[in-house]
Amino acid sequence: MVRRAALSVLLALLTAETAAADAENGRALAERHCARCHVVGEFNPHGGIGSTPSLQWIKKLPDWRDRFQTFYVRRPHLAFIKVKGLAPLTKLPPYATPIEIAPGDADDIFAFVEELPVPKGHSDITPIEGK
Ligand code: HEC
Repeated sequence: MVRRAALSVLLALLTAETAAADAENGRALAERHCARCHVVGEFNPHGGIGSTPSLQWIKKLPDWRDRFQTFYVRRPHLAFIKVKGLAPLTKLPPYATPIEIAPGDADDIFAFVEELPVPKGHSDITPIEGK
């Protein structure tokens, strides 16, 4: 019985470990949460906050993968993003509307960002035809 329980825990861990990231869920999460401050592809080309880089602009940085894999522990996010199951990184109250994500959500957001085209030139806003 104990052995069977241990086996199912192991199986659950293995399945979670190998679960493919879901870029569509990542898109939905980015549009819901990140677009408050960041321009997210063509979703809100004139939105976001002026002082905040667009998600696609960050991809111009050589270490953009590191930055997206750890965004929730990087300033300013650790002040308002909580990852379920992880202890909060600060005891201070959030200064922006809090966001709660599941651990796999970060992988999904990463999969979505991987698909975002990198803007050309200096501008991080690509006008959409007809708008
Ligand atoms: C309340 C505003 C706000 C929200 C919401 C927000 N960000 Fe950010 N983010 C910022 C700001 C401001 C910066 C720039 C920080 C800097 O330049 O030091 C930033 C920077 C980043 C960076 C670059 C980090 C670095 O250290 O270079 C990544 C990656 C990022 N955000 C991803 C995300 C993702 C993914 C989401 C949604 C899940 C998100 N952000 C939601 C404000 C926000």
